[in-house]
Amino acid sequence: TVTVRDKKHWLSVVEEIREMVDNDLGFQQVETKCPSQTKTFLFISNDKKVAGCLIAEHIQEGYRVIEEAVPEGSEGEKVMFERQRAWCCSTNPEPALCGISRIWVFSMMRRRGIASRMIECLRNNFIYGSYLSKEEIAFSDPTPDGKLFATHYCGTSQFLVYNFVSGTRSDQQSPNLV
Ligand SMILES: CC(C)(COP(=O)(O)OP(=O)(O)OC[C@H]1O[C@@H](n2cnc3c(N)ncnc32)[C@H](O)[C@@H]1OP(=O)(O)O)[C@@H](O)C(=O)NCCC(=O)NCCS
Repeated sequence: TVTVRDKKHWLSVVEEIREMVDNDLGFQQVETKCPSQTKTFLFISNDKKVAGCLIAEHIQEGYRVIEEAVPEGSEGEKVMFERQRAWCCSTNPEPALCGISRIWVFSMMRRRGIASRMIECLRNNFIYGSYLSKEEIAFSDPTPDGKLFATHYCGTSQFLVYNFVSGTRSDQQSPNLV
């Protein structure tokens, strides 16, 4: 965990990693809005490389994704459908505490539980002395990968999202508000 109390060196390392993650996610270059309000978690591999990054921020509310029936078909077809559809969410705010602003794992190391482990670490360390429940976490404008991951991690496709209106990613359609 790196916070503003840490040495400047670490903050510049984190800023560099964030820029790289933003490039990968298709975000335009944006400075971290309020570094003191964010917590960054890095997953360092055995060979001392940054293999994962999670940036979390304090939020007050999230909006529940509205489930759409997935058509019958093979596992591959279902994943394809999930990847292509735009997601819809409720306009009803629900209380939430922690927003996942970015979550990223190095492409060669995906599907090995790294993102899940980073979220476990986040839940243990985001608020001192308390363990966040899955219900208190929301995902910022999820990508197709993010949606599949969050659905698995939260155990439901109706997880909480936030920050979708001001999204700046170039690869995705705007979500539909229902
Ligand atoms: C989303 C992301 C962070 C997931 O990281 P990860 O380390 O691969 O995730 P985990 O290994 O912890 O995944 C746990 C489970 O989530 C589901 N899942 C994760 N990624 C998935 C994918 N691309 N397709 C289908 N299911 C997926 C699976 O059920 C997986 O369990 P399994 O591998 O045993 O089947 C990673 O794909 C990534 O960095 N993508 C690019 C950046 C991005 O889109 N970030 C999301 C922003 S919202």
